[in-house]
Parts: sequence; C-alpha cells; structure tokens
Amino acid sequence: MKCLVIHGPNLNLLGTRELSVYGTKTLDELNAAIEDEAERLVINVDIRQTAREGAIIEWLHEGIGSVDGAVVNPAAYSHTSRAIADAIRAVPYPVIEVHLSNIHAREEWRRTSVTGEAAAGVVAGLGAESYLAALRALKEIAEG
Ligand code: DQA
Repeated sequence: MKCLVIHGPNLNLLGTRELSVYGTKTLDELNAAIEDEAERLVINVDIRQTAREGAIIEWLHEGIGSVDGAVVNPAAYSHTSRAIADAIRAVPYPVIEVHLSNIHAREEWRRTSVTGEAAAGVVAGLGAESYLAALRALKEIAEG
C-alpha cells in the first residue's frame, strides 16, 4: 500500500511557529512519527511539504494510478482553496484532511474548511496523532 502525505504552507516552520498552538515538534520529528506508524502499518509513505497551492494540486494528480490514499494538511489553503477542493474530488483515491490544531476551537474564519468538504474525512486537534489516525483510517479503507 502506498500513501502520499502532503504538508502545506508554513508547516516547515513547526517547532518555532506559534508554539502554544502547534507544539514544539519540528517537521522532521513529525515526519519521523509518520514514518514509524507507516512502517508498523506496512504502508509506503511519500512525504512532501510545499508553500504552493499548485504543487499540492499537481502532487494529488501525480498520485492517480500510483497511490492508494493521501493524508493532506492544506494548512491555510483549507479555508480558501476551491482548486485544492476540486483536486481532492477529482482523484480516484481517498484523501483525508488533517490539522494539528482543532480548527473548530480557533478563530471563526478557520472553522470552515472548503477542502475538508471534499475529503473522505477530517481529523483535527490531535497534533501528530491527527496524521497517524488518518494513516490508520486509510489502511482500513483500503484493506478493510
Ligand atoms: C493548520 C490549521 C490552519 O488553520 C493553519 O492555517 C495552519 C495549520 C493545522 O494543522 O492546525 O497552517 O492546518
């Protein structure tokens, strides 16, 4: 089983960015936790990060025919990007949206996720565990 994991804008700054919201784990540490869980689940993960909306869309397209699912944290694009939402709808594999923070307990504008409306499911507020839970869910969806 193969899964894409995509981190959106500003997540490269984890570990120094808004520590009270996102915690002290760096992106490398988060990725190591994702790789450990993927190994346990026997999932081959391809983990990427970008600040660019178009790259997220192109990577989702590249996954067609080559991945069984994707875990995506579109970060602030979650609240605005109809283009990423349409890409999520366009791909044949399940996409689970994740957020480190609980977007429903934050500012009003973060409570709507247009990309989440297109996703198979959304996991928010569990820190790194949001990504790990999403991987477990993709495994269940793919293999039952
Ligand atoms: C985030 C939540 C978004 O509102 C924010 O713009 C981010 C990170 C999260 O993981 O909690 O950059 O997606």
